[in-house]
Amino acid sequence: MATIKYLGHSCFTIKTGDHNLIIDPFLTGNPLAGAKASDIKANYILVTHGHGDHFGDTIEIANNNNATVIGPNEIAVFCQQKGVNAHNMHIGGGWEFPFGRVKLTIAHHGFSDGESGFDIGGNPCGFILTIEGHKVYHAGDTGLFMDMKLIGEEGLDVAMLPIGDNFTMGIDDAARAVEFLKPKKVVPMHYNTFDLIKADPEEFKSKVTGAECIVMKVNDTLEL
Ligand code: NI
Ligand code: MN
Repeated sequence: MATIKYLGHSCFTIKTGDHNLIIDPFLTGNPLAGAKASDIKANYILVTHGHGDHFGDTIEIANNNNATVIGPNEIAVFCQQKGVNAHNMHIGGGWEFPFGRVKLTIAHHGFSDGESGFDIGGNPCGFILTIEGHKVYHAGDTGLFMDMKLIGEEGLDVAMLPIGDNFTMGIDDAARAVEFLKPKKVVPMHYNTFDLIKADPEEFKSKVTGAECIVMKVNDTLEL
């Protein structure tokens, strides 16, 4: 059994067997973070793009744990230049890791952010993870896109979708995304961390059709 835990914003951990994954580890500077970067035990760090609220504590967590970073090529190269292990991937590609398969999807968004120290360009991504036979889609930061129908054809158990508007899909488009993706369960993310992305997850829940919407509070867990 794999366990997903929400640490706030777009950050989740996934524990599967002996492996501990963390996705978009923005903890330092996140007023709603469920953990401190120094407390994170992870052997893989998955990063969707270079914005500070996603790249976050990647380098510190990687150094503390001798972890491997997985992400778009530019993220991996940036980490390797800092002496961190990283696995370079790109959109449409998948790879079998010891914990399961990772495939990168498109995401319609930006990539770099001088504030995070990440000043090279690239393409943001989402992740389709196949873990213990379950499929989990983490959309990263993105607007709504029609190709979510293709992602949905893979048969998703869980989808994590941004609902905060302004920088990503808002509630109404995220509800439309659920219709495209057809996951069994959907978890809202990327809301209420800052004033610009205030959103009511219960309103999102009320608009979701065809999937179970699970509003995870920080440090809540979900079994796969
Ligand atoms: Ni972003
Ligand atoms: Mn973001």
